[in-house]
Parts: sequence; C-alpha cells; structure tokens
Amino acid sequence: MFAVHLLAFYFTKLKEDQIKKVDRFLYHMHLSDDVLLDVMTRFQAEMVKGLERDAHPTAAVKMLPTFVRSIPDGSEKGDFLALDLGGSKFRVLKVKVSEDGKQNVQMESQFYPTPKEITLGNGTELFDYVADCLADFMETKNIKHKKFPLGFTFSFPCIQTKLEEGVLLSWTKYFKVRGVQETDVTSSLRHALRKHKDVDVDVLALVNDTVGTMMTCGYDDQRCEVGVIIGTGTNACYMEEMSNIDLVEGDEGRMCINTEWGAFGDDGSLDDLRTEFDREIDLGSINPGKQLFEKMISGLYLGELVRLILLKMAKKGLLFNGKISAALRTKDKIETKHVAAMEKHKEGLQNTKEILMELGLTPSEEDCIAVQHVCTIVSFRSANLCAAALAAILTRLRENKKLIRLRTTVGIDGTLYKTHPQYPKRLHKVVRRLVPNCDVRFLLSESGSGKGAAMVTAVACRLVSQRKQIDEILASFELSKENLIEVKNKMRGELEYGLKKETHATATVKMLPTYVCGTPDGTEKGKFLALDLGGTNFRVLLVKIRSGRRKSVRMYNKIFAIPLEIMQGTGEELFDHIVQCIAEFLEYMGIKGARLPLGFTFSFPCRQASIDKGALVEWTKGFKATDCEGEDVVDMLREAIKRRNEFDLDIVAVVNDTVGTMMTCGYEDPNCEIGFIAGTGSNVCYMEEMKNIEIMEVTEGKMCINTEWGGFGDNGCIDSIRTKYDKEVDEGSLNPGKQRYEKMTSGMYLGEIVRQILIDLTKHGLLFRGQISESLRTRGIFETKFLSHIESDRLALLQVRRILQQLGLDSTCDDSIIVKEVCGAVSKRAAQLCGAGLAAIVEKKRENSNLEHLKITVGVDGTLYKLHPHFSGILRETVKEMAPQCDVTFMLSEDGSGKGAALITAVAKRLHNVGEN
Ligand code: BG6
Ligand code: BG6
Ligand code: GLC
Ligand code: GLC
Repeated sequence: MFAVHLLAFYFTKLKEDQIKKVDRFLYHMHLSDDVLLDVMTRFQAEMVKGLERDAHPTAAVKMLPTFVRSIPDGSEKGDFLALDLGGSKFRVLKVKVSEDGKQNVQMESQFYPTPKEITLGNGTELFDYVADCLADFMETKNIKHKKFPLGFTFSFPCIQTKLEEGVLLSWTKYFKVRGVQETDVTSSLRHALRKHKDVDVDVLALVNDTVGTMMTCGYDDQRCEVGVIIGTGTNACYMEEMSNIDLVEGDEGRMCINTEWGAFGDDGSLDDLRTEFDREIDLGSINPGKQLFEKMISGLYLGELVRLILLKMAKKGLLFNGKISAALRTKDKIETKHVAAMEKHKEGLQNTKEILMELGLTPSEEDCIAVQHVCTIVSFRSANLCAAALAAILTRLRENKKLIRLRTTVGIDGTLYKTHPQYPKRLHKVVRRLVPNCDVRFLLSESGSGKGAAMVTAVACRLVSQRKQIDEILASFELSKENLIEVKNKMRGELEYGLKKETHATATVKMLPTYVCGTPDGTEKGKFLALDLGGTNFRVLLVKIRSGRRKSVRMYNKIFAIPLEIMQGTGEELFDHIVQCIAEFLEYMGIKGARLPLGFTFSFPCRQASIDKGALVEWTKGFKATDCEGEDVVDMLREAIKRRNEFDLDIVAVVNDTVGTMMTCGYEDPNCEIGFIAGTGSNVCYMEEMKNIEIMEVTEGKMCINTEWGGFGDNGCIDSIRTKYDKEVDEGSLNPGKQRYEKMTSGMYLGEIVRQILIDLTKHGLLFRGQISESLRTRGIFETKFLSHIESDRLALLQVRRILQQLGLDSTCDDSIIVKEVCGAVSKRAAQLCGAGLAAIVEKKRENSNLEHLKITVGVDGTLYKLHPHFSGILRETVKEMAPQCDVTFMLSEDGSGKGAALITAVAKRLHNVGEN
C-alpha cells in the first residue's frame, strides 16, 4: 500500500519537475491575461490603421474590403460551382441551393492534390491546373454542357475593387507561384478556363476562406458576422460599417472586411512577444519577415515550432539525455497533426512516445512528459493570441453597434481548430474571459468555405441579372453613327419641306421667317426696353447701346416670376401680368414717363408678317394660356398696356430667343449666323438665302429663319429611336404628340425622361428597394440644374446621394450610381441628337454658299448648355463627326436674348425712321 502511494507521489513529483523545467525554459511563451489584453488593444489600433485612407498603405494589417455586403438571407437559389484553393486541400464543388420554403443546400465535391510543382511553379501552370481540375470535375459529374456561375475561394490576401476581381497582394503559407503577385487572379482563372471549349462558367465572385466560412455559417445562423480560420494559416473577417471603410465609397450598410490578421506584427509591433524560435521559423520560411502573427499561431508552423524547441532543449541536455537524432534536426519533421496527437487526453503520452521514437529518439518517461508540455505551451499560446485578436474584433463590433452587450456568432474553420483536441475549448474560454460583455457562439463550419462562396455567388448572380436589365434599358438610349446620320439627313429633309411653298403649311419643322435680315454692324445706338419671356426666367430689361469708337452695351434687368396659374390661365391674365411687371420695372428704374422703343423676346413659334407682328402658332414648353394661339402677341401686349393705361411703349420688334441669341453673339462676331438654344426648350435659327425661302416674294439677300426644330419628328419620322419613356413623357405633357424632338433634347423634358426610367427600374425592383416614393411620382423634380449636378464628375457618390435625398429620393449608394448612369444616358442622347440636327444646318449653310469648307459661328444659350457638365462637349464632338467639312465655333451668349432683341429693335427703329423720312 505504502509502496503504491510512494510511487504515485514519485510520479506526480516527476511530472511537476518536468513541467516546471519546461515552463522555465519557455517562460517567454506564457502570456498572462494582462499581456493578452495589451495584444488586444494593439490589434484594435491596427484595425483602425488598416481602415483609414492615409494610414492604410503602411498598415501591417491590411483590412481588405471584400465587396460582400450581406449575410445570406435565405433567398439565394440556383446551381453553382465553387473552387476552394489555398487551405490544406484543394477542392472543386457543385452546390445546389434551393429556396423551397425550407433552406436546402446540396453539395458534391472532389479533392485534388496540389503538388509542389504547382504551389512553387509559375502562374500559368497553376491556373491551367485549376482549370483542368474543374474540367475534370465537370466531366465526372457529367455537367459540361451547362453554363454555371462560379465562386472562387482563394485563401490569400487580395485587393478587391469589386466582388469578381482581386489582385494578389502577396503569397502566404506554402504557396509561392511566380508571376501572380500584383495581378488579378480571376482574370488569370478566366483566361485558363477559356482553353476548355466545353467549359462555360462565369467567375462571379472571389472570396477569401474566412469570408466563405462566415457565409457558410451565416446561412444557418443569421447572427454570424465574423469568420475565423485557424488552419494551415490563420485569419479573420467580420462585418464592418461602411462609414468606417475609407477605401470604399458609400456609407450605408456594412461590408465584410478580410483583416488578414496573419500579418499582424510585420511592422515590428509584436517583437517584444516573439521568441528566438519564432525568429528562426520566420527565417526558414518562404516569406521571411511576413505573416509574423500567423507564424506564431497556425497549423503550418506549430509542429516546426515544437521541433525547434525540442532541438534546443536536447542540445542543452534538457531532453533525451542530450542525444539528437537526424530526424529531429530535419525541418518540418514534426507536424501539427503530431502536436494534436501528443496532446490527446488519454493516449497523449503514449502517442508522444511513439512519435518521438519515430523521430529516431529514445525518450524516457520524463522526456515524454516534458515534450507533451512543450506542445501544450505552444498550442496554448496559439489559442491565446487568436483569442486576443478575436476579442479585439468582437469589441469593435460591439462598439460599432453602440451596445453594452453584444450577442454574436463566430463562424470558424481550419484543421488546427478542428483536429486539435484542446484547442476550441481553450480558445472559447480565453475569448470569454477577455470580452466578458460579449455572448459569443462559436459555430464550426461543417461544409467548408465552398458553400459560403456559392452563397456569395448566388447574390452576385442576382446582381448580374439585375445589371443586365438596367443595361438593356440604357441601351435603348444609345445611338449608333448610322442612327445619327439618319437623324441628320431627315432633319435636312424637313428643313427643305419647311422652306418649300407647297409643303410649308404642313411642315413639322416650321421654318418661320423672322424679318431679321442682317446681323448688327455696330452702328446701333439708343435706349431700349426689352422683354424676355419663355425661358427659365421672365426678365424686363433696359438696354443702352452706344455706337462708334466707344461702342458698348449696358443693361439693367429685373427677373420676375410667372406663377404657374398665370402660365396656364387666360391670355388676358398673362399679358396683364407682364404689363404689371413692366410697370414695376419702370417704377424701379424711374423711367415711367419715357416712351421707349421695346423689343419683345417671345420664345415660342410665331408666324410673322413683319418685324413687329407675330401670331403665336401654338404654345410650347410649360405655357398654355388660353385665347392666345393664332393671335398676334404684339397686339395682345399693346392691349394690355392700354388696359392698364399707366404708360405707353413703342413695341418695335418681336423676336424669338434663338434670334436674340444670334444677334447678341453677332454683335461680337459677324461670322455668327446661327442661334441655338439648349435650355428649357430646344431650337435653332439661321441666316437663309432669300431665294430659298419660297414663301417670301423677295429673292435678294438673306433672312433669319426660326426653324422651330423642336417639332421635328411630329410626323413620326424619328419614332424608331423614341423609347417608351419618351412616349410616356410626351403623353404626360401639355402638348401631347407635339415637339417630339424637343422632348428628347431639352431641359424641361430630360429630367422627366429620367424620372420615367427610374419609375420603371423601381417597378422592376432594381432601384429604391422597389418602393416608388411620393417624390418619384412628382412631375418635374429633376430640373436641369439637378441633372447637371448629379452628372458632375467632381461629385463623390455621397454627394449624389445627398442631392437625391434633397429631392426626396431616399437612395442607397448603389441607387445613386444607377441614377447617375440613367442621367448620363439621357443627356448624352440629347447632346448627340442636337449635334446631328446642327450638323444638318451647318451643312445646309455650307452648300448654300457653295464652299468646300465652311467656317461658321453658332451663338448658343440655355441652361442645359450652360450648366450641364457634358452636354456641350458631346454636342460639339457630334457636330464635328457629322459635318466634317464645317469648322464650327460655339460662342456662348453671356447676356441672354434681351441684348439681341434690343439690337434688333435698334436696327428696326433706324430703318423705320429712314422709311418715315
Ligand atoms: C476549409 C476551407 O474548410 O478551411 C478552406 O474550405 C480553408 O478553403 C480551410 O482554407 C482552412 O483550413 P486549412 O486547415 O485547410 O488551411
Ligand atoms: C436666355 C434667354 O439667355 O436663354 C432666354 O435670354 C432664353 O430668353 C433662354 O429662352 C434659354 O434658356 P432657358 O434654359 O432659360 O430656357
Ligand atoms: C493566410 C492567408 C489568408 C487566409 C488564411 C487562412 O493567412 O493570407 O488569406 O485567410 O491564410 O487560410
Ligand atoms: C421652344 C419654342 C421655341 C424656343 C425654344 C427655346 O422650342 O417653341 O420658340 O426658341 O423653345 O426656348
């Protein structure tokens, strides 16, 4: 009895001695909770660094955006292929996700070897090999004839700018393939796949194994927002708030960040904790100086760490009686699976003995106990370090959510975690101790990262199909060169119709004579009043023109509002309102008594019988006052002045805004013989040879023709390029069926086209979460200035989003991108159409003057031309392409049409006076 006790005592003592000996030898590897809390704090700082724009380039922990934005929500479905490369095993999988009420995932997979020639070869060989394995898998499963979306789990650090692309930052673990670093791995894969004519896959997603794991676990537990790998390598990902990710635009929602925590310490921040063994491991690795945290933790290195320690202890005579075998001196002879076996609860000691003997050693009982304890210290340190970093992530998640307690799930995978008998328990325990305010569930990923990659691919697949729908809609706004040539030719034909006697009356492009027969010559002078009605603003102006050497124009003006009920009330009300504004202006300027000559810019189609007579043909744009169409607007103005009976004016000229603009610019540049408005409405005037204007008797000289090209297409001649949205805009307008070209090209309608497209996209669930808001239903929300803002290149996405919010459209950043694209497609088409139309006009002028080459200036005005960032550029380009024999200068009218109207009035007045005398 006594002997038994003695033996037990002896044995316990012996064990204690061994443990103490090892503890003393490896005291540096023991990490107290204080140290771990310190590591945790350091890692928190590293995360912040990696996320910040300025600090990111030099940050050791890269915090890579993954473009995975949500955990699976169960609505994923379809058949997918997945590749899983970079862990201990390379796998090809087919994943079937169905959504038949209950979630259901079926997987078939096959492992393929990754020989050293591949992991240490060159890039082409690697991707060819991967493609060959995929082809083989499809062959065996008999699925070669079908097209599949594919998710690529690639367990290395990649810089992603989209889900389906990733540039390898550096190889880690046991891979070192030449010519892959700093290249996009998905395009290499695609390239290799193209060699297999019978394989048709679409690589839609590139995911890190941590992300795959998080998604795999997230499919079963929606709370899962962290993915951890403790396998060949070690790493973690988690869901970060978009607003904290500087590298990706946008601030709503979350995105998964691949921390690449394996590189923690690469900047020296863990040097105080690294031991001589860690330094030795690093020096002997294929990536010295890199992945220093990983090298203290993961499966690829644990066995070797143990071997180096044993070797040193033996050398010091602390083990094996100082005897060292050749195997013990050989790199990688102890693997992680051996460490796991030696630490097994019951058979651990026996395993240790066998393993050591296999290494050619003859261990004593004491040796085995000591070696087992070495393993424990090494693997315990590994779990401790992982726990500290994970605790930092959990704390960050909790703080992001501003919670006192966080309840969350960590999806976890990797051979070390799965096969080491003590590892999970130790890890969980330390994490819970370090972050007592987090309730963590550790969920082992049963089916690897492949399933998660398929989930990510499923979401990507849905996005791709949505993108296709958007592209199709936008494609209907694209005009080919042939389309534009056709527009130019048709416009040219319509111009001729309008000029011909037999067709003039029914022509859609009205070609209205303006009785303006020349551009100003600098001799104009005097004081004039001008009215400017029909654009964005209604203005009354006083214009003082000086001629001769001190030639100048001075203007004073006041903008007045015309309320909607007046624009669309009775004619009398409209003209009374105008006269009311004039009265206020005269009062304001203190010139009520003076009977000044007045030029009336009236930006609507008028049939003129002289310079001071103009019968309104029909209202366009936003005006619809009754009893005006067919009436002479000068008479209506005179009558309103009479009705008011307060002052008198000498109305000398009625002028279209295009004509006013041409004159304004013509005053500076005599070569300006075309006036173009791209504003609320769209129109052009130009100087035409009298002999071509068949409805005029005179055949000498020139006269300005107001084309009223806005009506182009009213006979259906451009219906083939009109979209259903154009038709909707037309139907909802004040003048359905009229001004079809204007409705595709001018400021008043572009926003409406955009709105119709957005409504359609929303109906299809492609925008605004499928919700058509009250504002989206509101006509006219997208004024030209908003379109112009949205399309500005200087604007960040967030600013676009803010503009949309201002308009009452609660959009995500993805929505904002789409809205911007829609605006771009619509305004580009408008600029191209105007360009084709203008080309027809300059070509006509060139032919009129029988010139090989024509040099001409176009005077331009209008909010669309002036405010929109791209309109004028595209317009100019199109004119150049469509009328290569014309050298067209665009001259922006700085002073509006009012100045031109005053100049016309001055000329008319002079001629009138000459006539009277
Ligand atoms: C697996 C994944 O489940 O875990 C792999 O599918 C991943 O892609 C692996 O790399 C990590 O473990 P190990 O031990 O194989 O590196
Ligand atoms: C202005 C003219 O400069 O341009 C207006 O003075 C004209 O009369 C206008 O109608 C066109 O632009 P918008 O964008 O105001 O319709
Ligand atoms: C390495 C890789 C990382 C991967 C991890 C686990 O650390 O760099 O991307 O997630 O191993 O496999
Ligand atoms: C409308 C009018 C036209 C005007 C143009 C630009 O098209 O009908 O007269 O020139 O708008 O304001």
